[in-house]
Amino acid sequence: MNKFILFFFIQIISIFSLFSNPILESLVYKIRDPNTDKKEFREYLEKIGEYIALDIAKDLKTKKQNIQTVMQVDAEHNIVDENIVLVTILRAGLPLFNGVFKVFPESEAGFFAMQRNEKTLKASVDYVALPPLEGKTVIIADTMLATGGSMLDAIKIIEKRNPKNIILVSAIAAQEGIDNILKHDPSIKIYPAYVDPILNEVGYIVPGLGDAGDRCYGIK
Ligand code: PRP
Ligand code: URA
Repeated sequence: MNKFILFFFIQIISIFSLFSNPILESLVYKIRDPNTDKKEFREYLEKIGEYIALDIAKDLKTKKQNIQTVMQVDAEHNIVDENIVLVTILRAGLPLFNGVFKVFPESEAGFFAMQRNEKTLKASVDYVALPPLEGKTVIIADTMLATGGSMLDAIKIIEKRNPKNIILVSAIAAQEGIDNILKHDPSIKIYPAYVDPILNEVGYIVPGLGDAGDRCYGIK
């Protein structure tokens, strides 16, 4: 089995194990509901970010740390031992990012402003604000992973700055977008809350939830 197929296989297994969580699925159900208002929509996304971040933490490097309790006895615990940079893509990524940030509050943060052209489906990168990334674990949170074009633009900029690894978080990912990311780099770990099968002819995820930026903040 070549390296690419092996990585691909491991990715599919971890993606399936994540979205078989019924608590996460109940939150995905809520954000799909057209009656969920903007405030609730952002709150559910934040919760999704928190729960996925807890799952990511299980895969991060840890170190053993002792603490002496008031009972004068040592307790040993595994503490995350990574320099994390948490990155998001405006607008729709922001609530998801806030949820992940709650779990990794010591992280540095980075931001991209991008907008997908509705006809070409290519994103224009309008703003990049990143701390030094060399040797760090970069977690990119964006609510929708559709064609994967926006994430790939961010990944290509981030890769040039030599991070240790790149992890992606999304609420809903299209299978096509996942495939495009893994084709670019099969070592990237993707944590979607749910994977949908179809992208329609205008690049929207089906069944999806509509325009995530608009659902968070209103029509632009
Ligand atoms: C949405 C979404 C992702 C992107 C995903 O952003 O938030 O960033 O589309 O699509 P892709 O995988 O095909 O690139 P959009 O450009 O609509 O901007 P918004 O977040 O401001 O609404
Ligand atoms: N961006 C969204 O907000 N929704 C989609 O379905 C695809 C891209």
